[in-house]
Amino acid sequence: MATSLVEQPILKMSAPDLRGDLDLTVEETRRLLELAIDLKRNASAYATALQGRSLSLLFEKPSLRTRLTFELAIQQLGGYAVSSIGMIGDREPLKDVARNLDRWTQGIVARVFSQETIEGLAQWSRVPVINALSDLYHPCQALADVQTVLERFGHFEGLKLAYIGDGNNMAHSLLLTAGRLGMHVAIAAPNGYGPNPDVLSAAANAGVQYTLTSDPAEAANGAHVVYTDVWASMGQETEAEERKRVFAGFQVDDVLMAQTARNAIFLHCLPAKRGQEVTDSVMESAQSAIFDQAENRLHAQKALLLMLLR
Ligand code: CP
Ligand code: NVA
Repeated sequence: MATSLVEQPILKMSAPDLRGDLDLTVEETRRLLELAIDLKRNASAYATALQGRSLSLLFEKPSLRTRLTFELAIQQLGGYAVSSIGMIGDREPLKDVARNLDRWTQGIVARVFSQETIEGLAQWSRVPVINALSDLYHPCQALADVQTVLERFGHFEGLKLAYIGDGNNMAHSLLLTAGRLGMHVAIAAPNGYGPNPDVLSAAANAGVQYTLTSDPAEAANGAHVVYTDVWASMGQETEAEERKRVFAGFQVDDVLMAQTARNAIFLHCLPAKRGQEVTDSVMESAQSAIFDQAENRLHAQKALLLMLLR
């Protein structure tokens, strides 16, 4: 029987933080996924790997998956989490917040409105900072997503990921994480709602093969993975009605799924607005891997914590 990777030294991340997807090299991402898959199979072997370590969880926005899986991840590695909800830096400067937290805990996980808040925490804190979603990126979600793809297909090269919808934080993280691992990323977004040009340049510089279109069928054609996300992200609630009109032709439904590769899967970071970006039928279909994906948040984040905090 193969022994667990826990017997082997764990690769330390070369970057001190996970501010965005590019803080992990491709090689580190591959090692993280191997570790995540081992953690999923052999959870008990890692029960004391981060014994006594603590994490600060800071949330400016709501969360079900991210918050609970980080709490569970650190607990299942022998550590514990403390959390605070509310705008970071409202009561005192960010640089003071960072230098309080790094005296008490060995890592900071933050869900923020602005990427600048992540950058500020990382600049001032002496302990690793993990981006748990910002306006620009959602790297922890992308790690769970590529773990799910790897489990289903066994490889990334030659696979096409179609992202249908808003060119948001999720689209950016998939471009930079799935794209750098070798998947072709085809994004279908309405005109004016495509990904951030700076993120597209970063993806191109990293050698990512991507295509942009405003035709969902073109993106979905032959895809192995179809991915969508809400049309109005957290903080965009006032635009929700307008976005419903703009994105009306971008729903992932059975007709769109019929254009994909034979063994294609459907992914969504959740929470989903069924009846808007995706139909109930696709969410509940045999192709849907959304709950494996959600489960993998736990395993991928445990691997991340081991590579950053140990
Ligand atoms: N996918 C995701 O990040 O979910 P939460 O917003 O519930 O954390
Ligand atoms: N794009 C979404 C992702 C939620 C997990 C948001 O930012 O609200």
